[in-house]
Amino acid sequence: MECMTIDSMDWDGAYRDGGFFDGPPPWNIGEPQPVIADLIRSGAFASDVLDAGCGHGEVSLALAAAGRTVLGVELSETAVAWARRSAAQRGLSRATFEQGDITAFSGHDGRFSSVVDCTLFHALPVDKREAYLRSVHRAAAAGADYYILVFAKGAYPAEMESKPNEVDAYELHAAVGRYFDVDFIRPAPILATVEALPGLPDLVLPFERDELGRLQFPGYLLRARKSESGIA
Ligand SMILES: C[S@@+](CC[C@H](N)C(=O)[O-])C[C@H]1O[C@@H](n2cnc3c(N)ncnc32)[C@H](O)[C@@H]1O
Repeated sequence: MECMTIDSMDWDGAYRDGGFFDGPPPWNIGEPQPVIADLIRSGAFASDVLDAGCGHGEVSLALAAAGRTVLGVELSETAVAWARRSAAQRGLSRATFEQGDITAFSGHDGRFSSVVDCTLFHALPVDKREAYLRSVHRAAAAGADYYILVFAKGAYPAEMESKPNEVDAYELHAAVGRYFDVDFIRPAPILATVEALPGLPDLVLPFERDELGRLQFPGYLLRARKSESGIA
């Protein structure tokens, strides 16, 4: 198994057969993360929704099934093709997908009433966070809600080479707070099928599994809002 850091990750290779993982990537749980599914059920997202780093598009598709218009933006061509196929198969035309780099996303200024980042934030190099937040801020409408689900520091062993860029709550608040009004940051689990993770040291991770055997990693859920004036 080849080894790389998250900052040099071949994201398309994560999704291709015979690519980086022996099978589906660990974050592909075939449904939205439960914390995000709860938000969708509670009506937290208003159209139009931007799904930043949408992967196979399960969050976008759940939003579309709930009647929201959603655009998923994703770097990987392979993942975008999968998401488009799933939308067609499920008859969910409200979900559309665009291949692109979210840190340079433009052309939709002020469009989105909600933005969801389901485990993208820790996938970005730390020095790309600023450009990412600027892009999202530009794309968000005044007063838009912004949700981020991200791994908490310590989720993965320190010695693991390709681990995500986990955050602590202060660091997350400081980064997002430069552009948005942060409403809350609270602990939230992130499910992953760690068996698919290369480079994970052979140790017992001290986290619970859910009823399907997926490990519940520690994360944070952040909610923020773009100011009504639209000024960062
Ligand atoms: C951990 S995965 C989460 C995928 C999806 N949100 C989910 O919950 O299944 C992170 C995703 O972000 C994508 N990604 C990484 N960097 C990106 C960038 N600069 N622009 C757009 N997508 C990016 C990756 O290809 C990957 O699909």
